[in-house]
This record gives sequence, C-alpha cells and structure tokens, in this order.
Amino acid sequence: MTGMTEDSSIITTVIKSWHDRPGALLPILHGIQDKLGYIPSEAIDLIASALRQTKAEIHGVISFYHHFRTTPPGNHQVQVCRAEACQARGSRSLEAHIKKKLSVDYHQTTMDKEFSLDAVYCLGNCACGPNIRISNEIHGRVSNERFDELVDAMTTRPLELQ
Ligand code: FES
Repeated sequence: MTGMTEDSSIITTVIKSWHDRPGALLPILHGIQDKLGYIPSEAIDLIASALRQTKAEIHGVISFYHHFRTTPPGNHQVQVCRAEACQARGSRSLEAHIKKKLSVDYHQTTMDKEFSLDAVYCLGNCACGPNIRISNEIHGRVSNERFDELVDAMTTRPLELQ
C-alpha cells in the first residue's frame, strides 16, 4: 500500500497537535479514539515514535484505562456497569449472560460488527441496577431476558446462543 490512509492522516494530525506538550499521551489517545472510535495498531507505532516511548509503554497505558479500545466498535456499543451497587444487584450474572449471548468478551466486537462490549464503572443510576447502556441509552433493572429482548430488537435476526 502506498500513501497515507485516511486513518493514518487523522492519527498523524492528532499526534502533531499534542506531541510536544507535557503529558501528551492521554490527550493523543483520547483524540484518536474520539475520531476513529478506537486506537488502531498503526497509531501505537506512530505514537511511540513521536513520543520516544516504547510500544509496550503505550499498550500499558491503553490497557490501564477501561475507556480505550483497540478494536473497532460495533454498530451498537453495549456497556455493562461493574461498579459496586450494580454488582450487589446481580451485574456479574448479567455480565456472564451478555458475554455468552453475544459470544464476545470485554473490548471485543461481534463477528457481524453489530455489538461491541465494554465495562463501565457507574452510570449514575445505582438504585436501579443492574444497569447497562446500549449506545446512548441507559437501561435499568436488566434481567437476562430483558437483555435478550433489547438485543433481538436491534438485530434483523436474533442471535443464537452458542
Ligand atoms: S453502580 Fe451501576 S449505575 Fe452506579
């Protein structure tokens, strides 16, 4: 492949606007994820080179913050609240069901690119746990059955349990 892809051009622009400032790494990562929806592997190479850090250091920061993802998000982003109040109301069991239903783990996207799954730590709706957010909508008191209904309503063909 020759020339710059659209993504690498965006990545380079974000890096250039921050690379000579102190503490540039986090704003660069946020900037790239805001624009592309994730941090592609080519971004890690470019950031490491621009900031004179190792790729392992960049990966370390990305994996430390739950917000960052290294795969493209699905059409619908599912976030499960893993904070204490939701755990007390059954989020662990719901989380296991969701992973099985979608056949993905956290930070992954379904094969059909419809759903990506991420953890979140409090959605501000603690009294109504367990809570999830799908795209921009928060759903409270979510049972396994309710999750299936929500997901099936967003897909043309219901997902089959594996
Ligand atoms: S703990 Fe889940 S919404 Fe606050």
